[in-house]
Amino acid sequence: MIAACQTGIARAAIIAFDAEELTASLVERLRTADVAVVALTDDDDARERLRALGVRHLASSAPSVVLADEVAAAVADLESQRTGSLIGSFADTSRALAPQAPSRSEEVEPDGNGIVFAAWGPTGAPGRTTVAVNVAAELAATGSRVLLIDADTYGASVAAFLGLLDESAGIAQACRLADQGVLNAAALERICTKVALDGHALFVLTGVTRADRWAEVRPSALGLVLALARSMFNFIVIDCAFGLEADEELSFDTLAPRRNGATLRCLELADEVYAIGSADSVGVPRLVRALTELDEVVPTLTPRVVFNKVRAASVGRSPERQLREAWERFGPSVPISTFLPADFEAADDALLKGSTLREAAAASPLRQAIASLVDAPIEQRRRGSTRPTSNEMKFSSNGVRLPQ
Ligand SMILES: Nc1ncnc2c1ncn2[C@@H]1O[C@H](COP(=O)(O)OP(=O)(O)O)[C@@H](O)[C@H]1O
Ligand SMILES: [Mg+2]
Repeated sequence: MIAACQTGIARAAIIAFDAEELTASLVERLRTADVAVVALTDDDDARERLRALGVRHLASSAPSVVLADEVAAAVADLESQRTGSLIGSFADTSRALAPQAPSRSEEVEPDGNGIVFAAWGPTGAPGRTTVAVNVAAELAATGSRVLLIDADTYGASVAAFLGLLDESAGIAQACRLADQGVLNAAALERICTKVALDGHALFVLTGVTRADRWAEVRPSALGLVLALARSMFNFIVIDCAFGLEADEELSFDTLAPRRNGATLRCLELADEVYAIGSADSVGVPRLVRALTELDEVVPTLTPRVVFNKVRAASVGRSPERQLREAWERFGPSVPISTFLPADFEAADDALLKGSTLREAAAASPLRQAIASLVDAPIEQRRRGSTRPTSNEMKFSSNGVRLPQ
């Protein structure tokens, strides 16, 4: 059926077996080939799963006129999704699956509208995990419900940062259930590792520690996990990998999973992206190049530029001024948003203890600087405002666009 759909001869596929093999990835593959999907089933569990996957379904005894209407509606859905989304998705095979967050209204707590942050940056360990873990910790310590996701498919390290002896790869489990359409709030909570922080719990989806398991973090499933997480948590913080390049031009099978798909999907779906660079002569040009690539693959995004490990020894006296001047001369037109000081004592201490900066080095300059990153989102939540639309975000976050 997939082969037939990919030849372009079909507009819709009717799946009449028990739909067990219908996963989020398969639905996305079919939709990418412009094929709408309708399933026939009489099984309650299957119906529930299909609803979670956003697939229209009918009883197998449905009269053919009703089926015809349903097929027409599914095709219309697909068309409106196509025209409704401004950009294609670059993560997997086409745009995001546009998940319906199925469980949101039924079984999930009210908070809704969780804000998604992504910590991203070029290769070379600029501090993505340091920022993600500690931003999540600062948010959780205020009593917000926070989910920290390790989506680094090259070098998962959140568990190590938090001193977790965790090999469970929570993200792979969540993605597997989401792909099958059976992920709900209770299951996601169960998969999360809970870390106690100042009397509050930080929920963590640990990463795939064996790099060869990257294919388990499928972009379409990750999109569903995020949609559900938004309905369960106030904040979701994602530790991303660095790579952006889409390798489809090199690969004959354009629908094969792509290693950078998870990162791309996170960046597409995040409300706020921290683009983190090392403040030295290797890190600055890397960040400049990475931002140019980012603008090519997710042009709607305006990241917050964060320079980490800022120190006079690598940049010269008045490092912040020097960096700003160099950035104005050579950098992309996104302004620098934040400087985080080099603070090896605090960073090492936290790593050694397997704990967050607020626990291991509360008074350290690095912790103070990271804590100030989250003042605005916490204030926003206190005022009770809901998640900004991507458009509002774009213009509120220092919204200067990169040159085309
Ligand atoms: N501001 C900082 N000062 C000193 N060391 C830092 C700082 N930020 C990060 N580090 C250290 O740099 C290393 C790489 O950081 P990490 O967050 O793992 O980078 P990434 O996730 O980008 O690969 C870690 O050992 C971390 O403790
Ligand atoms: Mg990392």
